[in-house]
Amino acid sequence: MFKAISRSKRIGILTVVLSMLMGVSCTVKDSTGIASSSGTSSSAATQASTSSEATTAASSSEPTPSPSPTPSPSPSPTDTPSPTPTPVPEYIEPIITGGAVWYDGYVDPRTVRAEIVSDPNNIAVLVNKYYAQPQSYVPELIYAKYSANQQLRPEAADAWEQLHDACMAEIGEDLYLISGYRSWETQTYSFNNAITRRGLDKTCCKNAYPGRSEHPLGLALDINIKSDPEIRDNFVYTKAGQWVLENGYKYGFIWRYPKDCGYITGYGVEGWHFRYVGIDVATEMHDNNIMTLEEYYGKPQVLPHNE
Ligand code: DAL
Ligand code: ZN
Repeated sequence: MFKAISRSKRIGILTVVLSMLMGVSCTVKDSTGIASSSGTSSSAATQASTSSEATTAASSSEPTPSPSPTPSPSPSPTDTPSPTPTPVPEYIEPIITGGAVWYDGYVDPRTVRAEIVSDPNNIAVLVNKYYAQPQSYVPELIYAKYSANQQLRPEAADAWEQLHDACMAEIGEDLYLISGYRSWETQTYSFNNAITRRGLDKTCCKNAYPGRSEHPLGLALDINIKSDPEIRDNFVYTKAGQWVLENGYKYGFIWRYPKDCGYITGYGVEGWHFRYVGIDVATEMHDNNIMTLEEYYGKPQVLPHNE
């Protein structure tokens, strides 16, 4: 029978039989000798081949190559945080030299050195005869309600409105803002005018030198009631004033120059001047019976015998 089959056919049959016996894949070589897949796209073939390799590797007896150890990250030098530099305070030197001059317990602000505060935007910033705002500082301002066309910092204006409305709701008193923000120039005029009108001793007790007043911060409020829109010493002893004294802290206000505290604040009692410091600070002061912002910061006025 073999003889009846041509030689080339015999070779073909043998090739097929051998292929079946050896279990080779369906990849055959075409006449060009280049491998190709039958009916399968090359990428699918690659994936099949890859997955077949994985299966083969997993099931073979060859040792699974142990994964090469992940290189541990080489330690980079820890960035040592550079310490925040302590700001070097700047000062305004006295314009009248020769030492501090006192009038009845109140120092002439022109005779003492003042530190320029570094954070005039802080709503609780301490400004007095010894702590000055930078001359270039002008806060953001808006017109305040219930006022004689006065401006305040937005936080203070908002709190003022709430204070006013609560006072009206609780006791029916119509609070009124007589003086809020004052520019550096207005404060200069007011100080010099006070010297001419009242004399230096009274001025040092009641009027702030430019830069040493809270009014140019937009956080100070001289107030009374609408039916008496004048600055009055006795405002805090009126029904409205008493209410503000008791409830002001809930809205972020403190009475800034209380009676008998002039040796701490540097100013005599001002029954009309309130300061917005924010609810947190005002509440802390209230709860701890701290009367002045100077004591809150542990910076009472430097008295003559301690100079
Ligand atoms: N009367 C206060 C001290 C001021 O002028 O700011
Ligand atoms: Zn005032």
